[in-house]
Amino acid sequence: MKRRVTKAVFPVAGLGTRFLPATKSVPKEIMTLVDRPLIQYAIDEAREAGITEFIFVTSRGKSALEDYFDNAPELEAELRKKNKDALMETLKTTYMDSGAIAYIRQHKPKGLGHAVWCARRLIGDEPFAVILPDDVIAAEKPCLAQMTEAYAETGGCMVAAMRVPDEKTPAYGILDVEADTLDRKISVRGMVEKPPLGSAPSNLAVIGRYILTPDVMNTLNDGKAGAGGEIQLTDAIAKEIAHGRPVTGYRFEGERFDCGSKAGFLQATVSFALARPDLSDEFGRFLSEIVPVARAAE
Ligand code: G1P
Repeated sequence: MKRRVTKAVFPVAGLGTRFLPATKSVPKEIMTLVDRPLIQYAIDEAREAGITEFIFVTSRGKSALEDYFDNAPELEAELRKKNKDALMETLKTTYMDSGAIAYIRQHKPKGLGHAVWCARRLIGDEPFAVILPDDVIAAEKPCLAQMTEAYAETGGCMVAAMRVPDEKTPAYGILDVEADTLDRKISVRGMVEKPPLGSAPSNLAVIGRYILTPDVMNTLNDGKAGAGGEIQLTDAIAKEIAHGRPVTGYRFEGERFDCGSKAGFLQATVSFALARPDLSDEFGRFLSEIVPVARAAE
């Protein structure tokens, strides 16, 4: 079954404890890279891949996300009165068509697999994408669009993949592959979530972009806990392979930032700021001044 992918699930229920105290009252997905919240990057990427239905799996304390994607009539009136057309256009990128966005609560933090499963009734019998907003990917063609194009040929399940050094493998879902060739599409024969150091089957890590068949939801119905006592999406995808259905790793083109960590978030901020025409001169000059000073101080 090869169909167009029009639905995407955004698991956004996490507490974001690594960014406390900020995340005490601000959902981490609202934290900004330059001037756009992380979630806006994820939504824009989904839109560019042809996604038209957006399903957020949220939790308590995430209502700022719902407000973010709502219309803002007072702000709009103010901008129009002042003829701030460019800002009006920016504001409109946060607007969603009526009925295009749905919010579902994950009542308990039982893992990524469980979060995705919470969306099962809205997914129904269709392939769907999953985007983890913590993984921000800067690319000429957005990562999910690269994947939907490749998926049109492969069908089955597809996960974004990237090489990571040995010592980082325990932080990821890791692919077991026949051979780690340089091909964009890699046939996967197994997957393991967060393998202990030294036991990873390869250096190919799963990055937070997935295209999945509804069969994965059926597997998640079992509610079996895996690594860390959580219901893992990785385990449910691995089951697909066991059932003889294809799973493909897609080595995307682009640079990925781990915005779930402070260092990654800062790297993304610097990189996105330097890529912005309105900031690159001033910010670039600032960096070129402070970097030598910091080096000298070492
Ligand atoms: C999740 C997935 C993991 C994947 C990672 C990518 O882990 O469970 O398989 O490699 O995202 O960022 P988390 O970062 O939520 O612990």
